[in-house]
Amino acid sequence: MNTRTIKENLRKRLAITATGLALAAASTFAHAHGDVTPQAVDTSSLKQLGETWVTANPYRGNKDAIRIGDSAFNQNCARCHGLGAVSGGIAPDLRLLDINDDDTDEFFIGKVRNGVTRNGAVYMPPFEGMLTQEAMWAIRAWLETVHEN
Ligand code: HEC
Repeated sequence: MNTRTIKENLRKRLAITATGLALAAASTFAHAHGDVTPQAVDTSSLKQLGETWVTANPYRGNKDAIRIGDSAFNQNCARCHGLGAVSGGIAPDLRLLDINDDDTDEFFIGKVRNGVTRNGAVYMPPFEGMLTQEAMWAIRAWLETVHEN
């Protein structure tokens, strides 16, 4: 191998390394912003609710649902509604939602399914098709545990 070939090989190797670094950086970036994609929530341990949407929380006070909802909230909602539902002011403070109340359950599930779009601007994305109703109700069950007046 003459000097020229060695240099050529070295340059190629460096180029490959640079590409590798760029890819690594890109995937780190994607990862850092991974919470933009709603995260799958494992609700298999909960009573399954079927196809029909229910309007009152079937998991109110259910410990397992509360645990699942805590993590589901932090993965899907916290970026706007705040970690632990402590709002930073971007979106409503969900600790203020009434608890033990079927009407508020219905209001909640409507907002989460449909999101909020006003004058063409998406304030909150719809979660129907992203989260199951089991996951949504688990979040509601958890929210009731952090309720504040
Ligand atoms: C991209 C930011 C964003 C994400 C993510 C988001 N929300 Fe929202 N949400 C908002 C905003 C902004 C509003 C207020 C919309 C309006 O102006 O009416 C809102 C409103 C709501 C309301 C109505 C509250 C009220 O008092 O009017 C509920 C309930 C709610 N969100 C639940 C959730 C849940 C549960 C999740 C996660 C599954 C979630 N949101 C994810 C931004 C978001």
